[in-house]
Amino acid sequence: MQWYDEVLRREKHSVLTRDGSWTLFSKEFGESYHSDRDGALHESLEKHVKSAFRFVGDRAHLTILDICFGLGYNTLATLYYVRQHHLPVKLHIISPELDRGLVESLEGFEYPREFAAFGPIIEALSRDFYYEDEQFRIEILIGDARQIVPQIRESFDIIYQDAFSPRHNPLLWTREYFAQIRDRIRDDGVLTTYSIASAVRMGLHENGFNLFISSGDQLRDWTLASPQILKGLTQIDMVLKQERNPNARSLRDADFLQA
Ligand SMILES: C[S@@+](CC[C@H](N)C(=O)[O-])C[C@H]1O[C@@H](n2cnc3c(N)ncnc32)[C@H](O)[C@@H]1O
Repeated sequence: MQWYDEVLRREKHSVLTRDGSWTLFSKEFGESYHSDRDGALHESLEKHVKSAFRFVGDRAHLTILDICFGLGYNTLATLYYVRQHHLPVKLHIISPELDRGLVESLEGFEYPREFAAFGPIIEALSRDFYYEDEQFRIEILIGDARQIVPQIRESFDIIYQDAFSPRHNPLLWTREYFAQIRDRIRDDGVLTTYSIASAVRMGLHENGFNLFISSGDQLRDWTLASPQILKGLTQIDMVLKQERNPNARSLRDADFLQA
């Protein structure tokens, strides 16, 4: 099966999400870039940024892998959070993205007013795929994350795992893909994802991640994962889950890639 379609990639339409922020619907993946119900900005801030900063936000330098850039909400919400809290942290964000045309179009996207101060950053990213000042360095790497991630030298404090859903974009949720991710996350790093699917959790567990449930106001639950124990969160007992449901299984490359 062909998982990517460059012609359909150009076809997107705008969707207003519940918190008043806009997202897009992708015809290529048959899915919105954000949950209509959770709200694009709300989801990004709560499920990714605040969830991760709760555990690593006191570090002087943070390296972040943002999978994948899309409309850049996770990257921009990170900058917003850091500025809002006057955090002195230096950020290095690396973000793979398949869709060059999307990134090039972002200068004209209607972002929420919380991102109003980031006009020059969005402009630089959509033109050069790169932005740097004394506090922030952001690199968008155009191409397939599966090929890009193994070539990255950095190891990451934070990984935002925010691909389209496992049903529509399974290659960014397989056991083999999570092995690449495990290789790039620091032992004291945190991965955030909106997915609560058993197969996703199994793939992370099989690569040595501990799994945790997170929840919030007006949001569906989400998952945090880390090689270390995240204090204050409910850990998911994956061994028990496996015993109770022996058919639960991680996604595998072989299920989706032709030999
Ligand atoms: C759900 S959207 C990401 C939303 C984004 N995090 C945001 O906050 O706006 C998923 C993105 O993954 C990109 N994508 C899909 N498969 C990819 C791949 N193999 N490598 C890199 N990017 C990919 C899509 O083009 C899309 O922009």
